[in-house]
Amino acid sequence: MRPRVYITRRLPDAVLSSIEAECEIRMWNESDIPVPREVLEKEIVNADGLFCLLTESIDRALLEKAEKLKVVSNMAVGYNNIDIEAAKEKGITVTNTPGVLTETTADLTFALMMAAARRIVESSDYLRNGKWQTWSPMQLTGQDIYGATLGIIGMGRIGASLAKRAKGFDMKILYHNRSRKETIEQELDIRFEELDSLLEKSDFICILTPYTPETKNLIGERELSLMKKTAVLINTARGGIVNEHDLYHALKEGEIWSAGLDVFEEEPVALDHPLLTLPNVTAIPHIGSASIQTRTRMAELAAENLLLALKQRTPKHVVV
Ligand code: DGY
Repeated sequence: MRPRVYITRRLPDAVLSSIEAECEIRMWNESDIPVPREVLEKEIVNADGLFCLLTESIDRALLEKAEKLKVVSNMAVGYNNIDIEAAKEKGITVTNTPGVLTETTADLTFALMMAAARRIVESSDYLRNGKWQTWSPMQLTGQDIYGATLGIIGMGRIGASLAKRAKGFDMKILYHNRSRKETIEQELDIRFEELDSLLEKSDFICILTPYTPETKNLIGERELSLMKKTAVLINTARGGIVNEHDLYHALKEGEIWSAGLDVFEEEPVALDHPLLTLPNVTAIPHIGSASIQTRTRMAELAAENLLLALKQRTPKHVVV
Protein backbone atom coordinates (compact mmCIF):
# COMPACT_ATOMS: atom_id res chain seq x y z
CA MET A 1 0.00 0.00 0.00
CA ARG A 2 1.25 3.50 -0.83
CA PRO A 3 2.06 5.63 2.21
CA ARG A 4 -0.46 8.26 3.21
CA VAL A 5 0.82 11.81 3.47
CA TYR A 6 -0.86 14.92 4.81
CA ILE A 7 0.34 18.27 3.44
CA THR A 8 -0.59 21.36 5.43
CA ARG A 9 -0.51 23.96 2.62
CA ARG A 10 -0.82 24.15 -1.14
CA LEU A 11 2.61 23.43 -2.69
CA PRO A 12 4.09 24.21 -6.12
CA ASP A 13 2.62 21.75 -8.66
CA ALA A 14 5.90 20.04 -9.51
CA VAL A 15 6.64 19.34 -5.85
CA LEU A 16 3.15 18.07 -5.28
CA SER A 17 3.45 15.73 -8.27
CA SER A 18 6.72 14.31 -6.95
CA ILE A 19 5.00 13.35 -3.69
CA GLU A 20 1.84 12.18 -5.46
CA ALA A 21 3.90 9.84 -7.64
CA GLU A 22 4.73 7.75 -4.57
CA CYS A 23 2.06 8.48 -1.99
CA GLU A 24 -1.64 8.92 -1.35
CA ILE A 25 -1.92 12.57 -0.50
CA ARG A 26 -4.38 14.70 1.34
CA MET A 27 -3.74 18.42 1.48
CA TRP A 28 -5.06 21.62 3.04
CA ASN A 29 -5.76 23.27 -0.27
CA GLU A 30 -5.38 26.93 0.71
CA SER A 31 -2.36 29.10 0.14
CA ASP A 32 -3.01 31.88 2.62
CA ILE A 33 -4.89 30.30 5.49
CA PRO A 34 -3.23 27.83 7.84
CA VAL A 35 -4.84 24.46 8.37
CA PRO A 36 -7.23 24.64 11.35
CA ARG A 37 -6.04 22.63 14.33
CA GLU A 38 -9.13 20.38 14.34
CA VAL A 39 -8.51 19.44 10.70
CA LEU A 40 -4.87 18.64 11.41
CA GLU A 41 -5.84 16.56 14.45
CA LYS A 42 -8.20 14.52 12.30
CA GLU A 43 -5.82 14.12 9.37
CA ILE A 44 -2.81 13.13 11.46
CA VAL A 45 -4.51 9.97 12.72
CA ASN A 46 -4.08 8.07 9.45
CA ALA A 47 -0.98 9.77 8.07
CA ASP A 48 2.34 7.97 7.59
CA GLY A 49 4.01 11.25 6.70
CA LEU A 50 3.37 14.91 7.43
CA PHE A 51 4.65 17.78 5.27
CA CYS A 52 4.26 20.93 7.37
CA LEU A 53 5.28 24.56 7.70
CA LEU A 54 6.53 26.67 10.59
CA THR A 55 2.96 27.90 11.10
CA GLU A 56 1.80 24.53 12.45
CA SER A 57 2.37 23.58 16.03
CA ILE A 58 3.41 19.94 15.98
CA ASP A 59 3.19 19.47 19.72
CA ARG A 60 3.01 16.45 22.00
CA ALA A 61 -0.80 16.41 22.04
CA LEU A 62 -0.88 16.22 18.24
CA LEU A 63 1.84 13.60 18.02
CA GLU A 64 -0.03 11.45 20.59
CA LYS A 65 -2.84 11.15 18.02
CA ALA A 66 -0.44 10.17 15.24
CA GLU A 67 -0.51 6.42 15.57
CA LYS A 68 1.04 5.68 12.17
CA LEU A 69 3.26 8.71 11.67
CA LYS A 70 6.84 7.98 10.63
CA VAL A 71 8.07 11.39 9.53
CA VAL A 72 7.42 15.09 10.03
CA SER A 73 9.03 17.06 7.22
CA ASN A 74 9.21 20.75 8.10
CA MET A 75 9.63 23.16 5.19
CA ALA A 76 11.92 25.45 7.19
CA VAL A 77 15.35 25.38 8.73
CA GLY A 78 13.94 26.34 12.15
CA TYR A 79 11.95 23.63 13.93
CA ASN A 80 10.84 25.37 17.11
CA ASN A 81 7.25 24.60 16.03
CA ILE A 82 7.86 20.89 16.63
CA ASP A 83 8.13 19.08 19.96
CA ILE A 84 11.37 17.28 19.19
CA GLU A 85 11.44 15.32 22.46
CA ALA A 86 7.94 13.98 21.87
CA ALA A 87 8.82 13.00 18.29
CA LYS A 88 11.96 11.25 19.49
CA GLU A 89 10.06 9.31 22.15
CA LYS A 90 7.57 8.16 19.53
CA GLY A 91 10.30 7.22 17.04
CA ILE A 92 9.10 9.81 14.51
CA THR A 93 11.78 11.23 12.22
CA VAL A 94 11.85 15.03 11.98
CA THR A 95 13.53 16.73 9.01
CA ASN A 96 14.22 20.34 8.03
CA THR A 97 15.58 22.35 5.09
CA PRO A 98 18.91 24.02 5.95
CA GLY A 99 21.41 25.22 3.35
CA VAL A 100 19.08 26.06 0.49
CA LEU A 101 17.85 29.28 2.12
CA THR A 102 21.17 30.58 3.43
CA GLU A 103 22.05 33.17 0.78
CA THR A 104 18.49 34.41 0.30
CA THR A 105 18.05 34.94 4.03
CA ALA A 106 21.43 36.69 4.28
CA ASP A 107 20.36 38.97 1.40
CA LEU A 108 17.14 39.90 3.19
CA THR A 109 18.93 40.44 6.49
CA PHE A 110 21.33 42.85 4.81
CA ALA A 111 18.47 44.57 3.00
CA LEU A 112 16.57 45.01 6.27
CA MET A 113 19.69 46.37 7.91
CA MET A 114 20.04 48.96 5.17
CA ALA A 115 16.34 49.81 5.24
CA ALA A 116 16.33 50.30 9.02
CA ALA A 117 19.56 52.34 8.97
CA ARG A 118 18.58 54.58 6.05
CA ARG A 119 14.86 54.87 6.91
CA ILE A 120 13.80 53.54 3.51
CA VAL A 121 10.19 52.62 4.37
CA GLU A 122 9.67 55.75 6.44
CA SER A 123 11.06 57.88 3.60
CA SER A 124 8.85 56.18 1.05
CA ASP A 125 5.78 56.82 3.25
CA TYR A 126 6.91 60.44 3.67
CA LEU A 127 6.90 60.90 -0.08
CA ARG A 128 3.62 59.06 -0.70
CA ASN A 129 1.89 60.95 2.10
CA GLY A 130 2.70 64.27 0.44
CA LYS A 131 5.14 65.46 3.13
CA TRP A 132 8.05 66.10 0.71
CA GLN A 133 8.13 69.88 0.35
CA THR A 134 11.85 70.47 -0.20
CA TRP A 135 15.37 69.04 0.17
CA SER A 136 16.74 69.87 3.58
CA PRO A 137 20.15 69.21 5.19
CA MET A 138 19.13 66.85 8.00
CA GLN A 139 15.86 65.60 6.53
CA LEU A 140 15.34 61.81 6.98
CA THR A 141 18.98 61.28 7.88
CA GLY A 142 19.97 57.81 9.04
CA GLN A 143 23.05 55.85 10.05
CA ASP A 144 26.02 54.96 7.85
CA ILE A 145 26.52 51.30 7.09
CA TYR A 146 29.91 51.29 5.35
CA GLY A 147 32.76 51.11 7.84
CA ALA A 148 30.42 50.52 10.81
CA THR A 149 30.71 47.64 13.30
CA LEU A 150 28.38 44.72 12.77
CA GLY A 151 27.65 42.31 15.63
CA ILE A 152 26.19 38.99 14.53
CA ILE A 153 24.50 36.84 17.16
CA GLY A 154 24.56 33.26 15.86
CA MET A 155 27.42 32.33 13.55
CA GLY A 156 25.80 29.53 11.55
CA ARG A 157 25.50 29.36 7.78
CA ILE A 158 23.40 32.53 7.48
CA GLY A 159 25.63 34.45 9.91
CA ALA A 160 28.71 33.60 7.84
CA SER A 161 26.97 34.63 4.61
CA LEU A 162 25.91 37.90 6.18
CA ALA A 163 29.50 38.53 7.26
CA LYS A 164 30.65 38.04 3.65
CA ARG A 165 28.23 40.70 2.49
CA ALA A 166 29.29 43.06 5.27
CA LYS A 167 32.93 42.74 4.23
CA GLY A 168 32.00 44.35 0.92
CA PHE A 169 30.85 47.38 2.93
CA ASP A 170 34.14 47.52 4.86
CA MET A 171 32.35 46.70 8.08
CA LYS A 172 34.20 45.51 11.15
CA ILE A 173 32.57 42.22 12.14
CA LEU A 174 32.07 40.82 15.63
CA TYR A 175 30.11 37.70 16.45
CA HIS A 176 28.75 35.79 19.38
CA ASN A 177 27.94 32.11 19.26
CA ARG A 178 27.59 29.22 21.72
CA SER A 179 30.93 27.91 20.46
CA ARG A 180 33.88 29.67 18.82
CA LYS A 181 34.11 29.29 15.03
CA GLU A 182 37.83 29.57 14.55
CA THR A 183 37.94 28.59 10.88
CA ILE A 184 35.33 31.20 9.99
CA GLU A 185 37.16 33.75 12.17
CA GLN A 186 40.26 33.28 10.07
CA GLU A 187 38.53 33.01 6.72
CA LEU A 188 36.42 36.13 7.19
CA ASP A 189 38.54 38.11 9.65
CA ILE A 190 35.76 38.30 12.23
CA ARG A 191 36.14 38.44 16.02
CA PHE A 192 34.40 36.51 18.77
CA GLU A 193 32.95 38.60 21.61
CA GLU A 194 31.02 37.81 24.75
CA LEU A 195 27.40 38.88 24.26
CA ASP A 196 27.54 42.00 26.47
CA SER A 197 30.69 43.25 24.85
CA LEU A 198 29.27 42.67 21.35
CA LEU A 199 26.16 44.65 22.31
CA GLU A 200 28.26 47.53 23.61
CA LYS A 201 30.58 47.73 20.62
CA SER A 202 28.26 47.16 17.65
CA ASP A 203 26.53 49.75 15.47
CA PHE A 204 24.39 47.03 13.90
CA ILE A 205 23.24 43.91 15.72
CA CYS A 206 21.77 41.07 13.68
CA ILE A 207 20.08 38.14 15.38
CA LEU A 208 20.51 34.88 13.50
CA THR A 209 20.47 32.31 16.26
CA PRO A 210 17.98 29.42 16.54
CA TYR A 211 15.05 29.86 18.92
CA THR A 212 15.49 27.53 21.88
CA PRO A 213 14.64 27.72 25.61
CA GLU A 214 18.13 29.26 26.07
CA THR A 215 17.64 32.02 23.48
CA LYS A 216 14.06 32.94 24.50
CA ASN A 217 14.17 36.65 25.49
CA LEU A 218 17.94 36.69 24.95
CA ILE A 219 17.59 40.40 24.20
CA GLY A 220 15.63 42.22 26.90
CA GLU A 221 15.79 45.44 28.88
CA ARG A 222 19.30 44.84 30.24
CA GLU A 223 20.78 43.89 26.87
CA LEU A 224 19.07 46.79 25.09
CA SER A 225 20.48 49.18 27.67
CA LEU A 226 24.00 48.05 26.78
CA MET A 227 23.57 49.01 23.11
CA LYS A 228 24.62 52.33 21.63
CA LYS A 229 21.95 55.00 21.26
CA THR A 230 22.66 54.82 17.52
CA ALA A 231 22.37 51.02 17.36
CA VAL A 232 20.22 49.31 14.75
CA LEU A 233 18.80 45.93 15.79
CA ILE A 234 17.79 43.40 13.15
CA ASN A 235 15.91 40.17 13.82
CA THR A 236 15.42 37.68 11.00
CA ALA A 237 15.52 34.58 13.25
CA ARG A 238 12.50 34.17 15.55
CA GLY A 239 10.44 36.81 17.36
CA GLY A 240 10.66 35.28 20.82
CA ILE A 241 14.43 35.86 20.98
CA VAL A 242 13.76 39.56 21.61
CA ASN A 243 11.46 40.75 24.38
CA GLU A 244 9.07 42.88 22.32
CA HIS A 245 7.77 44.87 25.27
CA ASP A 246 11.33 45.92 26.22
CA LEU A 247 12.22 46.60 22.59
CA TYR A 248 9.23 48.90 22.21
CA HIS A 249 10.33 50.97 25.20
CA ALA A 250 13.97 51.13 24.09
CA LEU A 251 12.92 52.36 20.63
CA LYS A 252 10.32 54.78 21.94
CA GLU A 253 12.68 56.30 24.50
CA GLY A 254 15.50 56.58 21.96
CA GLU A 255 17.72 54.11 23.83
CA ILE A 256 18.50 52.56 20.45
CA TRP A 257 18.11 54.05 16.98
CA SER A 258 15.92 51.65 15.06
CA ALA A 259 14.92 48.06 14.47
CA GLY A 260 14.27 45.91 11.43
CA LEU A 261 11.97 43.02 12.23
CA ASP A 262 11.10 40.14 9.92
CA VAL A 263 9.80 37.99 12.78
CA PHE A 264 7.47 38.45 15.74
CA GLU A 265 6.55 36.56 18.85
CA GLU A 266 3.01 36.06 17.53
CA GLU A 267 2.69 35.74 13.76
CA PRO A 268 0.97 37.34 11.98
CA VAL A 269 1.71 40.29 14.28
CA ALA A 270 -1.44 42.10 15.46
CA LEU A 271 -2.00 45.34 13.57
CA ASP A 272 -2.40 47.18 16.87
CA HIS A 273 0.94 45.89 18.20
CA PRO A 274 2.78 48.83 19.85
CA LEU A 275 5.93 48.19 17.76
CA LEU A 276 3.98 48.97 14.59
CA THR A 277 3.19 52.47 15.85
CA LEU A 278 6.87 53.46 15.83
CA PRO A 279 8.42 55.14 12.76
CA ASN A 280 11.82 53.68 13.66
CA VAL A 281 10.58 50.11 13.20
CA THR A 282 10.83 48.54 9.75
CA ALA A 283 8.47 45.60 9.92
CA ILE A 284 8.06 42.88 7.30
CA PRO A 285 6.08 39.60 7.37
CA HIS A 286 8.65 36.77 7.85
CA ILE A 287 9.99 36.89 4.28
CA GLY A 288 13.66 36.04 4.96
CA SER A 289 13.69 33.08 2.58
CA ALA A 290 10.99 34.39 0.26
CA SER A 291 12.49 34.29 -3.21
CA ILE A 292 10.75 32.16 -5.83
CA GLN A 293 13.91 30.10 -6.33
CA THR A 294 14.56 29.49 -2.65
CA ARG A 295 11.01 28.71 -1.60
CA THR A 296 10.84 26.25 -4.50
CA ARG A 297 14.10 24.63 -3.38
CA MET A 298 12.85 24.43 0.21
CA ALA A 299 9.64 22.70 -0.92
CA GLU A 300 11.64 20.29 -3.10
CA LEU A 301 14.04 19.48 -0.29
CA ALA A 302 11.22 18.96 2.21
CA ALA A 303 9.53 16.61 -0.27
CA GLU A 304 12.76 14.72 -0.80
CA ASN A 305 13.28 14.36 2.97
CA LEU A 306 9.73 13.11 3.36
CA LEU A 307 9.97 10.51 0.60
CA LEU A 308 13.35 9.21 1.74
CA ALA A 309 12.10 8.75 5.31
CA LEU A 310 8.97 6.95 4.08
CA LYS A 311 11.21 4.56 2.12
CA GLN A 312 13.21 4.01 5.32
CA ARG A 313 16.22 5.68 3.80
CA THR A 314 18.17 8.47 5.47
CA PRO A 315 16.70 11.88 4.63
CA LYS A 316 19.07 14.66 3.58
CA HIS A 317 18.53 16.68 6.76
CA VAL A 318 17.48 14.89 9.91
CA VAL A 319 16.76 16.77 13.12
CA VAL A 320 15.93 13.58 15.09
C1 DGY B 1 13.06 29.06 8.42
O1 DGY B 1 13.29 28.31 7.46
O2 DGY B 1 13.16 28.69 9.58
C2 DGY B 1 12.66 30.47 8.09
O3 DGY B 1 12.22 31.16 9.18
C3 DGY B 1 11.64 30.51 6.98
O4 DGY B 1 12.37 30.27 5.84
